Amino acid sequence: MLLSWDDYNTDENASGRAQADPAVAQKALKHAAQAEKDQTKAAEVAAAIENDTVEESVHAEIDTATSTATQGSSKASAPSGDNIARALATVEEIDVAPGLEELEMGAQRVCVDDKAMINCRADLNQLVPFKYDWAWQKYLDGCANHWMPQEVNMTADVALWKGSDGLTEDERTIVKRNLGFFATADSLVANNLVLALYRHITNPECRQYLLRQAFEEAIHTHAYQYCIESLGMDEGEIFNMYREIPSIAKKAAWGLKHTQDLSDPNFKTGTVENDQALLRNLVAFYCVLEGIFFYCGFTQILSMGRRNKMTGTSEQFQYILRDESMHLNFGIDVINQIKLENPQLWTDSFKQECIDMILQGTQLEIEYARDTMPRGVLGMNASMMEEYLKFIANRRLVQIGLPEQYGSISNPFPWMSEIMDLRKEKNFFETRVIEYQTGGALSW
Ligand SMILES: [Fe+2]
Ligand SMILES: [Fe+2]
Repeated sequence: MLLSWDDYNTDENASGRAQADPAVAQKALKHAAQAEKDQTKAAEVAAAIENDTVEESVHAEIDTATSTATQGSSKASAPSGDNIARALATVEEIDVAPGLEELEMGAQRVCVDDKAMINCRADLNQLVPFKYDWAWQKYLDGCANHWMPQEVNMTADVALWKGSDGLTEDERTIVKRNLGFFATADSLVANNLVLALYRHITNPECRQYLLRQAFEEAIHTHAYQYCIESLGMDEGEIFNMYREIPSIAKKAAWGLKHTQDLSDPNFKTGTVENDQALLRNLVAFYCVLEGIFFYCGFTQILSMGRRNKMTGTSEQFQYILRDESMHLNFGIDVINQIKLENPQLWTDSFKQECIDMILQGTQLEIEYARDTMPRGVLGMNASMMEEYLKFIANRRLVQIGLPEQYGSISNPFPWMSEIMDLRKEKNFFETRVIEYQTGGALSW
């Protein structure tokens, strides 16, 4: 990579700059002025220059820049002509070689065969030639699928939610619990993507999809916030459910545990143990969090929409589910590709671990179903949901090459698959369905 924050924070040998000529002093000045995070270095450089024969005016500027970095102020006292001259001199001096040296393959052009899902040493800024066409295609499909929460009409939901006899207590519980779970769950997923996963996936077309996915997660969090605000709910209550309601808190804690390993700044892939930790994170987030934890809630809210209740909220969830199925499919493809390129990671004991994780996730989701649905509601009950979740879990296992664990189970909610396959000709809830696709781009 050309730029690395680690390198940026590495202490430079300030005394090496003590031979400074004005050009070196200008470099030091640039650092000092920019580096809020690098106050120590600025001080060292300034101190080194203090002992040298630098002109008085440069001296004064160094002091200004150093104190600027210290105080976080952006005012520069030098006349603008000096600023421009200094910028020109700095640009003149830029040496491209050091950045390229950091790439193990030097300044070579990237070939398809140089690319790999993890531990790749080729230049990650060269998007093409593509190695994983499916990843690029998913990026394009995601873009073709773009939508925004405020485009969904929430009027009927507001009337129903605020009316006294529109919804039963059980239905109200389902709406609140699900907005409570999802309002923070997508934020956990987004954090995992950008703070843990992204830097370890060493393929530019996959990174391009991860960036698209991260934005979609932001849209999902926006959608939940938009529902909560439209319905005039108690925001403190809803946004704290992931800490206060046990069946929600357990799911969040299970996911968070898997982010922690990878978000350690010292974590690096490249050993069997660490590469397995990365795979574990992918299984936890794609197969379990996005692949199982979302499904009880999606089914409940979409079932409500099918009964012509909370149709705006359902429509939001419908778009989210469509995005989520693509996230899931992308994650499965990444997991399988890593397995293919690194068969040494897919040991019997690791397979067992993945099975355990998926079964734990299923059990947590079954408990969530019981908590949100103590009685039958909306033509479904907790034991039907349990059946459905086991059906989903079997699918997740098979998708990453593991054996089904729940015997032969049929899908009690086949209409869920129809919604996931929604195309423009379908108008499922007979509400306003906006077609965001361009052409027939969405066909997975
Ligand atoms: Fe999401
Ligand atoms: Fe997602």
